[in-house]
Amino acid sequence: MRNKKELLELRNKYVPQAVFNIIPTFIQSAQGAIMNDVEGHTMIDFAGGIGTLNVGHCHPKVVAAIKDQAEKYIHTCFHVAMYEPYVELAKKLCEITPGKFQKMAMFANSGAEAVENAIKIARYFTKRPGIITFENAFHGRTLLAMSLTSKVKPYKLGFGPFAPEIYRIPFGDADLFKTFLIDHVAPESVAAIIAEPIQGEGGFITPPPDYFQKVIEICRENGILFIADEIQSGMGRTGKMFAIEHWDVAPDIIILAKSLAAGLPLSAVVGRKEIMDSPHIGGLGGTYGGNPVACRAALAVIEIFEQEKLLLKAEIISNKIDQYLERWHKKFEIVGKVHGIGSMRAFELVDERTKEPTKDKAKELVKTCYQKGLAILTCGKFGNNIRMLMPLVITEEQLEAGLKILEEGLQVLTKKSD
Ligand SMILES: Cc1ncc(COP(=O)(O)O)c(C=O)c1O
Repeated sequence: MRNKKELLELRNKYVPQAVFNIIPTFIQSAQGAIMNDVEGHTMIDFAGGIGTLNVGHCHPKVVAAIKDQAEKYIHTCFHVAMYEPYVELAKKLCEITPGKFQKMAMFANSGAEAVENAIKIARYFTKRPGIITFENAFHGRTLLAMSLTSKVKPYKLGFGPFAPEIYRIPFGDADLFKTFLIDHVAPESVAAIIAEPIQGEGGFITPPPDYFQKVIEICRENGILFIADEIQSGMGRTGKMFAIEHWDVAPDIIILAKSLAAGLPLSAVVGRKEIMDSPHIGGLGGTYGGNPVACRAALAVIEIFEQEKLLLKAEIISNKIDQYLERWHKKFEIVGKVHGIGSMRAFELVDERTKEPTKDKAKELVKTCYQKGLAILTCGKFGNNIRMLMPLVITEEQLEAGLKILEEGLQVLTKKSD
């Protein structure tokens, strides 16, 4: 096994800089909410593979499902020869996603691919080209997903031209959606609106309690489909299986990835049967979509949620985070607004005097936390939000220890700016 220095040399020689890294180390093993690097350092994981590990690293039931499936068959391509894990997972997701209507599901590999497929299906069904997206949205890095994404640097700069027929509105005010359909694009030309119920990369921005009810009403009046991108907010992160349930609405299409298969590449598009089943035979699919090993991992994830009561666990984590956030807000002038629901939480770092966003401080905090044994990420339009996406299986002691490291990091930052 190579040491860290040798591995970094390989990384720098053979992997482009654009493929960014947050934590400058290499992992040897990981379990639950703990990662161990090649130098023997242990880290508490508040990053969770950017929201991919709600059931934790290497959950024994996920590992067992993967092993069992890998010994039977790893891949046939669903289009060549079908297999049970695909149809079983489709059934499960149709059952657990919001909406009592009949649904269907299809699988792809990444979040961006799920976004692409949802848009293809919405356009096919409605026979309309337009897609409405939001300021501050993130939907991925493929051409269409990148075009739907809002933030220019680093996601879009130099990568155009972008996909056409994309319209962008501000997030959180349903009246602006209504007037947009008068001022900018005719509703008859709009296939769908795509929303993250809680904007992930955008800073865990959470719209008002009546927002999505109003949005969906406008959609219904105009024959526009409502697509919920639950790639980051879904799979139990917010204390409900899907964040959109906090607004008590049922999207026409819901897209999932990240924590769906506990780290294996799998994404899903789940939607109303008549919409999902509208494209012609052969119009949807892909070589690896719904790989059996990944589907088995996802089935194990859904089981773990029930058996280990992880939705309740998300609430318990949320309460503990709240206690700390309240304290930090009082204690540290640099802690600004708090965002998110359940255990999908973030706080802003701001200048003590001007209250302007301070991206550099956020970066410094991430670095200090890493040095003290905590992996954590930033997010937000100005890069000044610290977000928490710890595995929901984290123990009480690990959670406390991680939050204490964060507090120490805030203390260090505060001292520096005195
Ligand atoms: C809300 C949302 N949509 C889409 C994506 C893209 O997913 P992927 O990176 O798997 O393509 C992400 C990834 O962060 C996301 O958070």
